[in-house]
Amino acid sequence: MSEIIIAPSILSADFARLGEEVDAVLAAGADWVHFDVMDNHYVPNLTIGPMVCEALRRHGVTAPIDVHLMVRPVDRIVPDFAKAGASVISFHPEASEHVHRTLQLIRDAGCRAGLVFNPATPLAILEEVIDSVDLVLLMSVNPGFGGQSFIPSTLAKLRRARALIDASGRDIRLEIDGGVKADNIAEIARAGADTFVAGSAIFNAPDYRAVIEAMRANVAA
Ligand code: DX5
Ligand code: ZN
Repeated sequence: MSEIIIAPSILSADFARLGEEVDAVLAAGADWVHFDVMDNHYVPNLTIGPMVCEALRRHGVTAPIDVHLMVRPVDRIVPDFAKAGASVISFHPEASEHVHRTLQLIRDAGCRAGLVFNPATPLAILEEVIDSVDLVLLMSVNPGFGGQSFIPSTLAKLRRARALIDASGRDIRLEIDGGVKADNIAEIARAGADTFVAGSAIFNAPDYRAVIEAMRANVAA
């Protein structure tokens, strides 16, 4: 398997000190910055948009920014995020009229394209578009809020997603988002994930480095 990626979700960061928080988590060993975009329409919460992504780039963040769009419609915000410095842009198929077109739009804008599956969304659609996907994101909670508990049935779904990805022979990351902690990350990794989003587990801890190191150690064990 490819090397693991830890992507702290800034949804649980202190927004009043966002630049410092992102610097701190990257200095503590994080690989990517997970950037949750919510529109109070597709999900019942409202967060941050391209201006904040651009502000992080201007602040000096060079790590990949992993934009998770929980917005509908999707397409018209894609170019804005590409311009703002997004590295990966992922979206929910339910929020796009034409999933294949949205994937192309993201790649044409120079970003990696991710498809997100809610707990109740079947993986079937992945088989149809796997050639256009760079990342598969499985939600292990219902989207909208940080701090929820990992839904155990996601482990079986991860195994199915891993099998589809391996059978494709393509270089596709398998990301998990929701309720990931140092004490469940090992079984999540064994089920096939290689990219781990963690919000509350990292930002609610006093020592970001200790959590990130414990996560890596538990995956390797
Ligand atoms: C939920 C978001 C997640 C969230 C994860 O809709 O997509 O990225 O921040 O938070 P935790 O790790 O606390 O479950
Ligand atoms: Zn997310």
